[in-house]
Amino acid sequence: MFERVLPLHIRRLAAAGRGAPPTGCRQPEAAVLDGVVDGPSGSEAVVELRVVQASTGSEAVVVWDAALVLAYYLEHRQEALRLDQGPQTVLELGSGTGAVGLVAAALGARTVLTDLPEVLPLLERNIDLNRRVLDGPAQARALPWGHDHLDRVSDLLDPGVDYILVSDCVYYEAALEPLIDTLVALSRAQTRVLVSYEERTSPTQVAVQRRFRELVERHFRIHPVPPAECHPDYACPEIKLWTLEKRPSLSV
Ligand SMILES: C[S@@+](CC[C@H](N)C(=O)[O-])C[C@H]1O[C@@H](n2cnc3c(N)ncnc32)[C@H](O)[C@@H]1O
Repeated sequence: MFERVLPLHIRRLAAAGRGAPPTGCRQPEAAVLDGVVDGPSGSEAVVELRVVQASTGSEAVVVWDAALVLAYYLEHRQEALRLDQGPQTVLELGSGTGAVGLVAAALGARTVLTDLPEVLPLLERNIDLNRRVLDGPAQARALPWGHDHLDRVSDLLDPGVDYILVSDCVYYEAALEPLIDTLVALSRAQTRVLVSYEERTSPTQVAVQRRFRELVERHFRIHPVPPAECHPDYACPEIKLWTLEKRPSLSV
């Protein structure tokens, strides 16, 4: 199977207590991205993640645009999100190649990347390929959406998940309720849920997106992220990015 490796360059700010960057990092004075030399302050490094994509298979095999927007939002807002503090526990649903979760781990989060069982080999491969540049531990687990499978992550519920990340998982009707059931079951009032998806315009997709919004609003307040808060190079009007806040009366 033909494979392509997508390099993702992630600017990682120095954190209190973080030692020297691992060997997969370039020092800031040497970092050149798109012809721009990063500042000489020594307060950051540029990490190169390498994400294996395949040319055949399901929708899980490529990095979708919504993943890039969410991944680079994490990078762009890292001072506010502080994924390395604690560190924060991040759960990604429908990870596909794992690009978004890998960025969270590169920024210091304790990260669990999940998808259907058949996608685990790709996820595990991408974790292994990038392990030396991850600043937080990362693991892959099978987690089909819906109540029937929640026991696979029950160990994460105490003390709970700090962030849930979901990119480009809004595309077929049958999966919407199970996806929302999983989101609701795994989130607490304090959990920050970040959802990105591509606004597609076919009548079927418009209906799927409308239904998704209805289901989300039963349990969460939706806060659209303004484009100005996204990474300037990884934002476009078709990619929606929301933060979700669980409605207090429904918290577990
Ligand atoms: C369009 S891909 C997006 C992949 C990745 N998040 C990205 O944005 O690049 C949708 C992902 O959802 C996963 N998925 C679909 N149905 C699922 C289900 N019922 N349970 C868990 N994962 C599912 C697919 O395997 C796939 O990885």
